[in-house]
Amino acid sequence: MSGFPDVRPRRLRSSAAVRRLVAETTLQPRQLILPLFVRENATEPIPISSMPGVYQHTRDTARKAVAEAAARGLGGVMLFGVPEHKDATGSGGLDPNGILNVAIRDAVSEAGDELLVMSDLCLDEFTDHGHCGVLDAAGRVDNDATLQLYAEMGVAQAEAGAHVVGPSGMMDGQVGAVRKALDGAGHTDTVILAYSVKYASAFFGPFREAVGSSLQGDRKTYQQDPANAHDAIREVDLDVAEGADIVMVKPALAYLDIIRQVRDHVDVPVAAYNISGEYAMVEAAAANGWIDRERAILETLTAIRRAGADIILSYWAAEAVHLLDRVR
Ligand code: PBG
Repeated sequence: MSGFPDVRPRRLRSSAAVRRLVAETTLQPRQLILPLFVRENATEPIPISSMPGVYQHTRDTARKAVAEAAARGLGGVMLFGVPEHKDATGSGGLDPNGILNVAIRDAVSEAGDELLVMSDLCLDEFTDHGHCGVLDAAGRVDNDATLQLYAEMGVAQAEAGAHVVGPSGMMDGQVGAVRKALDGAGHTDTVILAYSVKYASAFFGPFREAVGSSLQGDRKTYQQDPANAHDAIREVDLDVAEGADIVMVKPALAYLDIIRQVRDHVDVPVAAYNISGEYAMVEAAAANGWIDRERAILETLTAIRRAGADIILSYWAAEAVHLLDRVR
């Protein structure tokens, strides 16, 4: 029996040097995007209790976070606005002086040549009912009336200097409507990162606190049913046909199979959003001493890359750069 087994996969795991040599999946700072929340009239950063370590920034601290993201070599930042006042049509999102557009201008002035400034293109942070679009007389989200507002919002964001806009409201036709409006206003170089595949997920929970959402109920009439995968392929096909430059799958962890299917199906870059609830779960378990926080972060990000995401949005993006330096 000596020499048995003949084949020993453990040989390639036997030292850090050999593990490094054969690692299939890499994670680089340029592939990571840091989401940032900027709160109107805030005078100091406000902690988000369900996302320990994440804040609603002031304009000033957001600028600092952008400069730091650039210094760390991240691919970009994704900006969200938290307005002081909301209304039925989310008008604060279209206002050139609304908090998101102001934050975009601030970020662009800090970003330098390599860091991309991206903005969430959706009305839910700005509507008093908390839905991603405007409501019709019956209280349903009105798809086509919402498209008109997204088109104007996209142009306002491009005018503020956003390099990339991220339509995230799951309205039918949103990518085409935004592309047409951008092109019509001369913003042919503004990139569309489409939240193409977005599931009606419980894991968005902490985000509701992060943006002070007033939503009652759920988004099941426009976000996808977690039971469905074919629907994801249909959504990415439509978005690519409408002009999406990059498609995104969201959430990430409960949908790694979807990320893989989308990656194998399309020929545009694929992003994944490692969302608020995924962040909160790891942070909560780590705070209890139940898991090793830093290992869990790197394992999470590596798994999302391995599933097929070229780009990852993560609240850990800036910290992950440090962790990567340490393991390299
Ligand atoms: C919509 C939007 C949401 C998130 C990003 N963009 C909320 C939603 O669709 O319900 C969630 C991000 C996260 O949970 O980290 N503006």
